[in-house]
Amino acid sequence: MGKATQDLRKEHEAILYVLQILDKMMESDSLDAENRLRYYGEVVYFLKIFVDKCHHGKEENYLFKELVNKGIPSEGGPVGVMLQEHAQGRDYIAQMAKSVDDKDINGFKNAAVQYRDLLRRHIDKENNVLFVMADNVIDEQSQSLMFEQFEQHEVNVIGHGVHEKLHAMIDTWAEIFSVG
Ligand SMILES: [Fe+2]
Ligand SMILES: [Fe+2]
Repeated sequence: MGKATQDLRKEHEAILYVLQILDKMMESDSLDAENRLRYYGEVVYFLKIFVDKCHHGKEENYLFKELVNKGIPSEGGPVGVMLQEHAQGRDYIAQMAKSVDDKDINGFKNAAVQYRDLLRRHIDKENNVLFVMADNVIDEQSQSLMFEQFEQHEVNVIGHGVHEKLHAMIDTWAEIFSVG
C-alpha cells in the first residue's frame, strides 16, 4: 500500500468514526433543542473543513489528477463518479448548515442521513476499488511525493490550531455520546 493512499485510508477511519458519533447525536433523547443544534453545527464545521476541504481536496487536487494522468478515465469512469459524489456531499452539507441556521432539526436529520449513507458507500468504493487501482498504477516514489503534497495541503487548509480544535471536538463528542 502506498503512502498517499494509506494517509487517505486513515482519514476515512476518522470520517467513519465521526459519522458513528453523528448517528448517536441524532438518536440521543437527552438533548434540548439548543444543545442539539450546537452539536449539529460543530459536525457541519468538521464536515466542511476536514472532510471536504482537507480530505476531498487531497483526492481531487492530487490523487484523482494523477489517476487521470495514468489513463484512468474521468468522465464516465470511476474518477468522474467520485467527483460527482463529492459534489452531492457538498450539497447535503449546505442543506445541513442551512437547517442549523434555521433551527430546523428535522431538516438537518433528513440531509444528514442522506449524507451519511452517501459517504459510507463512497468510502467503501474508494477503499476497495479506487485506491486499489491507485496502488497498481502509481509507484511508491510518486506516492511518497504525493504524501508530501498532502502534508502541505493540510497545513494550507487546516493549519495546526484548527487541527487541535477538531481533535478536541471529536474527543468531547465521543465522551458525551459514549462512542468507543
Ligand atoms: Fe472521495
Ligand atoms: Fe475519500
